[in-house]
Amino acid sequence: MLLDGNRYGHDDSIGHLGLTSTETGGLPLHKRKLTPMMLHLVETSAPSICGQPGLPERGLIGHVKFPASQYAGDNFPSQFSYILSHNGIAQSHNLDIALALHAAHQRHGNVVRIGFNHVSIATPEGLRTVYAHGNGFLKDIFYDAFVPHLPDVFTVRDRDEHARKRKLITNAFSPGAVHDFEPYMAVNLERWVAQLDRIAASPGKDGYAKLDIRPWCTFLAFDIIGDLAFGAPFGMVERGRDEVQSTQPGGPATYVPGAESLNRRGQVNNTLGWLPALRPWARYIPHPFFYKGLRSKANLHGIAVAAVERRLESVKESGTYQRRDILELLRRGKDAEGNPMPVDELIGEAHTQLVAGTDTVSNTSCAIIYWILEGERRNPGTILPRLLAELDAAIRPGSAIAAHGEVKNLQFLRLCIDESMRLHSTSAMGLPRVVTGKDGILCENEHFPEGTVLSVPSYTLHHNAEIWGPDVEEFKPERWLHATPQQKASFNPFSHGPRACVGQNVAHMEMALIIGTAFYRYDFKLYQQTLQSHEGFMKKPAECWVGIKLRNNKA
Ligand code: HEM
Repeated sequence: MLLDGNRYGHDDSIGHLGLTSTETGGLPLHKRKLTPMMLHLVETSAPSICGQPGLPERGLIGHVKFPASQYAGDNFPSQFSYILSHNGIAQSHNLDIALALHAAHQRHGNVVRIGFNHVSIATPEGLRTVYAHGNGFLKDIFYDAFVPHLPDVFTVRDRDEHARKRKLITNAFSPGAVHDFEPYMAVNLERWVAQLDRIAASPGKDGYAKLDIRPWCTFLAFDIIGDLAFGAPFGMVERGRDEVQSTQPGGPATYVPGAESLNRRGQVNNTLGWLPALRPWARYIPHPFFYKGLRSKANLHGIAVAAVERRLESVKESGTYQRRDILELLRRGKDAEGNPMPVDELIGEAHTQLVAGTDTVSNTSCAIIYWILEGERRNPGTILPRLLAELDAAIRPGSAIAAHGEVKNLQFLRLCIDESMRLHSTSAMGLPRVVTGKDGILCENEHFPEGTVLSVPSYTLHHNAEIWGPDVEEFKPERWLHATPQQKASFNPFSHGPRACVGQNVAHMEMALIIGTAFYRYDFKLYQQTLQSHEGFMKKPAECWVGIKLRNNKA
C-alpha cells in the first residue's frame, strides 16, 4: 500500500517539532539556502542513517528511493527539515524533544515519519512489535554515538554479542543480588537526610527551608551508584557539590563535575546519534555544545577507569574482595564458556552502570517528588494524607530512613511512583530499532520493509487521552487500581524485550527507599509551578524548588 504523505506527516514546516522560526534563524529550515557544508551533511547523513551493516544498500536522496520515503514524499527540502529539526537542532537549543514528537503525533496521527528512514509509531501495537523478543530487530546506529571506548551492553548492536554481555552482567541484577545492595543504599541515604536536616534547620518566614531538590537527587543517585558500581560513593552528598574524581589513561587524578558531564554527554551523544555524519568532525566544531560535550565523555570514562583501577588494586593486595556490590559481581561474571570479562570490558560495563543508573534514578526521583506534591496541590487531601498514613504505619518510629522491607510492598507508594513515571516519562523519546528480515514487518496495518528504523515514543504513549482518558494529564495514582489491559500494555518506563532495562529491580528499590524516606521524614511545600524538562537521552527536570521541614514525629 502506498501511504498518503499528509497522513504520515508530510510537512514542509518544522512547526511539527515545536521549533519557532527564531530558533531556526528566522526561516523554516526548508526555506533557508543550503550551504555546501549543509548539503554535505545531509548527503553523508542519509546513507549512514539508513544503511545498516549487512543490510541492503540504500542510496542518497534523489538517487535511490529508500523505504520510508513513502511516508513523507521525495521532496528534498522537507527531508532536510526532518533530519535536522528532529534532534540535532532541537538538542542544541535545549528543547524538550519528547514534547516536540508528541506534538507531531497529535498533529499527524499515530504513525509519523521523523527521519529519512525513521518512522515513529505511538501505539501499544507498535511497542509489542518493535521491541518484542525474537523479532530480530537491531538497535539503530544511533547508539554508536554512545559507545564509551568499546561497545557495552547498552550500545552493542550485534545480537549474539549482546546476549554474551547480558549473560555476563545478569547475575549482578538478580533479586538476590539486589537484596544485598541495601546497606550501600542505606549509608548514602543516611548522609542525604543528614544534609537535608541541616538545610531544614534554617527555615524561611513560612517555616520551610527552600531548596532545589533536583541536584540533591542527583548527588544521592551518583553516590549510590558510586558505592554499588565503583566500590565507594563519590562524596557528592557529603560535599553538596557536583564533583567526582576522574583519571585519564596515564594521567593524574583530577576532579570533574560528574552530573554536568553526564548531562553534556547525553546531549551531545543524542545529537551525534541522529547526525552520524557529524561524528568525525564534531571535535573540531568551535561550539561549547560539542567540545564540552565530548570532553564530558572523556571525563566519564575517566571516572570509570579510576574506580576499576582502585578495585583491581585492592583485590590484588588482599587476594579477595568482601563487598557484594555491582562491580564485584561484574568482576566475577562469566560468559557461556566460563570466561570473565577482560579489564577493558569491565571498565566499559562499570561505566554503563554509572550512566544508566544515575541519570535515570535521579531524574525520576525528582519527578516523583514533584508529581506527588503537584497532585496534592491540585486536589488537596487526596495524596499526602494517604501516603503519609501508609508510611507512618510501615516505618519503625524513630528511624532516620526507611528500610526496604518496610516500603517495598506499600501499595499507594508504588501507585504514586508508577503514576509519576507515566507523567514524567524519563525515557521519553522512541528508542530506535532497525527492521531486519527480507519480509520486513507489518504493524498498524502498514508494511515496513527491511532496513526501516522504527521507534515508539513512551512520552506520547503515556500521554494519549484515547488510552488514559480525559484526565490523562492529571496525577491520579488510583487509576492504576483499575488499569485496562491497553493501559498496562502502554506503560513503558523501562522498555520491553531483550534490550529492556536490566536494572529495574535496583531502580525500584532505590526509588522506594528515597521517596519513602523523603516523605516520611519531611513536610514538603511545592514552590515549583510546572516541571520544565530538557532532554539528553533521558528527560531531565531542569529544577524543582520545594520547601522542607522535619515532620512533627521527627522533632
Ligand atoms: C528509574 C530508573 C531507570 C529507568 C527509567 C531506566 C530505563 C531504561 C530504559 C528505557 C532502557 C532501554 C534503553 C534503550 O533501549 O535504549 C534501559 C536500559 C538499561 N538500563 Fe535502565 N533505567 C533505570 C535504572 C537503571 C539502573 C539503576 C541501572 C543499573 C544500575 C540500569 C541499567 C541499565 C542497563 C545496563 C541497560 C541496557 C540493557 C541492555 O541493552 O541490555 N538502569 N533502562
